[in-house]
Amino acid sequence: MSKKIVILTGSPRKKGNSIAMTNAFIKAAEAKGHTVTRFDTSDMDIGFCHACETCYKNGNACSFESDFNGAMADAILEADAVVFSAPVYWYSIPAQLKGAIDKLFSFMIGGKDVSGKECALITCCEEEDPTVMDGVRIPIARTAALLKWTMVGEVCIPGVLEAGAIDKTDGCAQAAALADKF
Ligand SMILES: Cc1cc2nc3c(=O)[nH]c(=O)nc-3n(C[C@H](O)[C@H](O)[C@H](O)COP(=O)(O)O)c2cc1C
Repeated sequence: MSKKIVILTGSPRKKGNSIAMTNAFIKAAEAKGHTVTRFDTSDMDIGFCHACETCYKNGNACSFESDFNGAMADAILEADAVVFSAPVYWYSIPAQLKGAIDKLFSFMIGGKDVSGKECALITCCEEEDPTVMDGVRIPIARTAALLKWTMVGEVCIPGVLEAGAIDKTDGCAQAAALADKF
């Protein structure tokens, strides 16, 4: 079945490791007939959640104008699946992607039913210890659980620092194989 997949990336490095895996995933997913819509949060002005709890009161998802409103919010609402792709920044999710994740709050406050979607994660880090990625893995897994999304897979590649280092791993092959989970 063809699915609508939204992928939110967090790295500003277009030739970097997580984007290389993202590209491998998208190529494989599109080859399977899925429609993939990608948002590079590092190119967007998303800001942060002000916790005003006025989401969708004035038509927009977020009352504070940002690039979350419109195409991104609508695409997530309509998606069958949401994939997050980001490197570890200081044992956590890069701020640009975290801003978009925080604004998922608007669906809850706005009474939008986003349950039933599939979710997946692509991540990487410099350090060799895979638990370094827990700061990305755990918030995504718990976010998915709260929103009643099903985690279908994770690609977590440690030991990659410089852009291109991913080519010395099987990260892109794993990201392509992730497309089979949808
Ligand atoms: C601001 C910043 C913070 C980082 N923090 C960590 C970290 O806490 N642990 C780690 O292992 N790598 C850390 N890294 C390294 C990146 O996770 C690593 O270089 C990764 O491959 C970058 O992915 P990208 O090429 O997709 O941008 C950090 C990199 C940056 C720029």
